[in-house]
Amino acid sequence: MQNLDQIALEAAAAFAATDDPDTLEQIKSRYLGKSGQITELLKGMAKLAPEEKKQAGAAINRAKVSIENALADRRDAIRRLALEARLAEESLDVTLPGRSEMRGGLHPVTRTLERIEALFRSIGFEVADGPEIEADFQNFTALNTPEDHPARSMHDTFYLLDEQGKVAEDILLRTHTSPIQVRYMQAHVAKYAHLETMPEIRIIAPGRVYRVDSDATHSPMFHQVEGLWIGEKVSFADLKGVVADFLRRFFESDDLQVRFRPSFFPFTEPSAEIDVAFMSGTLKGRWLEIAGCGMVHPNVLQHVGIDPEMYVGFAFGMGPDRLTMLRYGVNDLRLFFDGDLRFLRQFV
Ligand code: PHE
Repeated sequence: MQNLDQIALEAAAAFAATDDPDTLEQIKSRYLGKSGQITELLKGMAKLAPEEKKQAGAAINRAKVSIENALADRRDAIRRLALEARLAEESLDVTLPGRSEMRGGLHPVTRTLERIEALFRSIGFEVADGPEIEADFQNFTALNTPEDHPARSMHDTFYLLDEQGKVAEDILLRTHTSPIQVRYMQAHVAKYAHLETMPEIRIIAPGRVYRVDSDATHSPMFHQVEGLWIGEKVSFADLKGVVADFLRRFFESDDLQVRFRPSFFPFTEPSAEIDVAFMSGTLKGRWLEIAGCGMVHPNVLQHVGIDPEMYVGFAFGMGPDRLTMLRYGVNDLRLFFDGDLRFLRQFV
């Protein structure tokens, strides 16, 4: 049966000509499918005489088996080719230099802020936040700052421009974190309006503040941490205790003196500056100013809707940049904000 051998050869050649699995299956059906050549031949056997049937059947079957084997071989080969292609594509060049991992670290001022937050949380203070673009009311008016106060002048405060390009006098970059006091107290009053007496307020509020100022100890952007404790019986003695305890824990030292020096802020009365002096080390005996503070002025309480006959409290505003300079012995504030990695890497 010359014809059958030829069919088998043709099939094998057709299989070999493709490396696509779908095409391969289509070729297969030309021979072994429902109306494939081999299938048709098997159907045709019905017409043959019995002795012819035997011979023809054996020959057709041989061809069928040979085609099936060729098909199976080609399927394996195609699978192997696909795998090899994938391996080649995904291969690693182990001789390439490695990509080193970038190590990040926290900015020294961020470290200080996190430390301050942790220490104050440990004595029951919550951490509050507020916008850096502030309204005149929260930044000045509610804080009892008179209309003609020098801090409002264009030389000290960054004002923003309105849509016409004119200075918008009631939006500015906050000059201190004290407006967060105002916002927090306003929200607190609203939240507890249904109660006869409101719960105490005990917060610290770290953040960036802005002033028109730039030299070795002043940067147009710097940080403050506001503190506020309002209740029915909060005294100046509590203020001294909280601040002195904080400073000893912050510097991890009892070798430290704290002094409250009378001062003035429109939003506190009485007011003081807080100075520290170390009793040893390079800074021994020098008084360094690190915060302003005082008892919250009754006018401020009134502005936010708190009855000053019922509630009292203290506030302070610390300079965490200063605290960072002292803690790490850095002498120029600008180093913190220049972004020079040679400086910043030392703190990682
Ligand atoms: N806001 C004041 C400043 O920026 C500091 C301060 C805060 C003083 C709270 C008293 C009470 O200088």
